Amino acid sequence: MPAITTTAPGKVILLGEHAVVYDRPALAVPVTQVYAKATVSPDISAPQGRVWINAKDIGLSTNLADLPADHPFAVTASSVLETLGITRFPALKLQIISTIPIAAGLGSGAAVAVAMARALAAFVGRSLTPAQASAIAYRTDQCYHGTPSGIDNTVVAYAHPIFFKRSQPFELLPIASPFTLVIANSGPARPTGEVVADVRAAWQKDPARLDALFDQIAEIANQARIELETGNIPALGSLMTRNHALLQQLTVSSPVLDRLVDAAIHAGAFGAKLSGGGRGGNMLALVAPEQAQPVADALTQAGAVNILITQVSASHV
Ligand code: PMV
Repeated sequence: MPAITTTAPGKVILLGEHAVVYDRPALAVPVTQVYAKATVSPDISAPQGRVWINAKDIGLSTNLADLPADHPFAVTASSVLETLGITRFPALKLQIISTIPIAAGLGSGAAVAVAMARALAAFVGRSLTPAQASAIAYRTDQCYHGTPSGIDNTVVAYAHPIFFKRSQPFELLPIASPFTLVIANSGPARPTGEVVADVRAAWQKDPARLDALFDQIAEIANQARIELETGNIPALGSLMTRNHALLQQLTVSSPVLDRLVDAAIHAGAFGAKLSGGGRGGNMLALVAPEQAQPVADALTQAGAVNILITQVSASHV
C-alpha cells in the first residue's frame, strides 16, 4: 500500500456566527492558504491494527489505542471505521500537520478531521463523500464544544462557499464576483466552547433580547446572500460591519477585535467584523483588491499578529 496524503482547507465565517447555533442562517467560505494535511503510510513492522499518530504541531506522538475515547483523533478514527463498516485499520502511521492556527476561528479542528478521515479511508481503498467527511468532522467538532452548529465541518468538507442553516439542507453559494478578504488574528483566542456556553447562559437568562439579536443577524445573512449573488461587494461590507455591532451586543467581541475592525474601516475596507467564536481569534475585513495591502498594514499597526489575504470565488478550490 502506498502512502496517501490528503488535505483540507481552513475556513472563515463571513456572517452569522453564534446566531447560527440558534438556527439562524450563516455564510462561510474556505480559506485555501491554510490547510491541514494527513499522510498515512503502512507500518509493516508494527503489530496488527496499530495506528501510530504523529501530530508535531500539538506535540503528540502516540498509539491511537492509548488516547481517551473522546479525544478528537480517536473520535475521527472510530467514526471512519463505523462509516466504512470495518472493525480496524491495517497497521499504519498517520502524520498530521496543519498550518491553520488553532482556536482562532479558522476551522482547524474540522480541517484536521476531514483530512485525517479521507486519508484513513483512502488507505483502505475507500473514499468518503463530502457528506460523509462532513458528518465525521461534525462528531469530532463535538469534542471541542458540545453544540456545534455544523457550519465548520460543512464548509471544510465541501471546500466551497456555503449558506448554512441548521434545520435545512445547506446550499453551495453562487458568487457573482470574486472578493478579497484580509484576515487578521487579534492574539490569544478564547476556546469557542466557552464563548458559546456564555452566549447560551445569556440566552437562557433573557431569551427575548438574545432572540431579537439573532433575528437581526439572520436578516443580515439573508441580505448578504443576495449581495453575493449579485456581486454587490461594498454592500456586503456594510452588512459585515453591522454584524460586528450585533456581535458586540452579544458580548463576544473584545477590545482588540474592536480596535482591528475600526482600523480596517479607517484604512478603506468596505466593512469588517470578528469571525468565529470571538473574544479573541480572527477578524475579517472585506476590501477592494488594491486596498488589501494598506488595510493589512493598518491592521499590523493596530496590533494584529498574523495576517492572511485571500480571494474568494465560486470556483475557489
Ligand atoms: O470559532 P469557530 O470558527 O469554530 O466558529 C464558531 C462558530 C459559532 O457559531 C460560534 C459556533 C458554531 O458551532 O457555529
